[in-house]
Amino acid sequence: MKKILYLTDLAYKAKGRDYSKEDIYIADRLKDRYDVVLAHPKCAEGFEDHADAVVFRNTGSVIGYKDIYYDFLRRVEEKRLKTFNSFDGKADMRGKQYLLELTAEAYPVIPTVDSMDDINVLPESETYVIKPKDGADSIGLEFAAAEELKKRGLVPGKTLIQPAIDFQYEVSFYFINDKLEYAMYAPDKTKRWELAEYDYTDEDAAFARKFIEWNTVKHGIQRVDACRTRDGRLLLVELEDLNPYLSILEVKESVRNQFLQDMAEAIDKI
Ligand SMILES: Nc1ncnc2c1ncn2[C@@H]1O[C@H](COP(=O)(O)OP(=O)(O)O)[C@@H](O)[C@H]1O
Ligand SMILES: [Mg+2]
Repeated sequence: MKKILYLTDLAYKAKGRDYSKEDIYIADRLKDRYDVVLAHPKCAEGFEDHADAVVFRNTGSVIGYKDIYYDFLRRVEEKRLKTFNSFDGKADMRGKQYLLELTAEAYPVIPTVDSMDDINVLPESETYVIKPKDGADSIGLEFAAAEELKKRGLVPGKTLIQPAIDFQYEVSFYFINDKLEYAMYAPDKTKRWELAEYDYTDEDAAFARKFIEWNTVKHGIQRVDACRTRDGRLLLVELEDLNPYLSILEVKESVRNQFLQDMAEAIDKI
């Protein structure tokens, strides 16, 4: 049997979600097809040379282990490790910088700048959101009134600035390679992690697909996070191409089975 090194942080504490449960489930399903071993990214080096593929999953925010992450990326390149996801994306795996690029290219994304000098690029807003470029799991994310924002003395290039969007709800689209597997949304705005299956339209799917096509991930799982504005449009919040949490245990069984099968086949391909 082929060997998989499955990277995860089983002890990671995320608000409202249990990453470890999801990874135990997925790893358990993959074991019918592969020999699977689980490890924290910190422990990868000793095992990675012996694995046919390295699967990078719910390893938490890389803010918590930056050096380990960049060391790993270096070895992936040097040793040409076969990884899933492949580390050739332009989105979250390189920080949130891509939101500036998508804004400049007029994609349907929450307008984003990284300097107060460019604030006029954004639509005027009573409240703004600021977030670190390398953030995840809402670490460092803050809401600030327009007046307060000016007083912040933000260092240009360090922090992203967006208008605060008063959206109806958030919706996520989950892809394996270029196939849309399912979508989930948070019907209650105040409970972002209580998700229900979302019955998407062709237009919604086309919206999500735009970002998958823009990105350059050859093999992997991506989650397109969007919000539905009051006037009914979808705007990209985040394109998670590093380690998207999948809410896979909340998806109905037939969809989950299809996802696991497609995931195993996608890993086979690398
Ligand atoms: N510009 C915004 N306006 C309103 N809410 C936002 C905005 N940006 C982020 N949020 C809220 O914060 C959450 C986390 O933001 P996100 O950009 O996805 O960062 P993270 O990488 O931490 O998940 C979003 O799911 C959304 O609920
Ligand atoms: Mg997010």
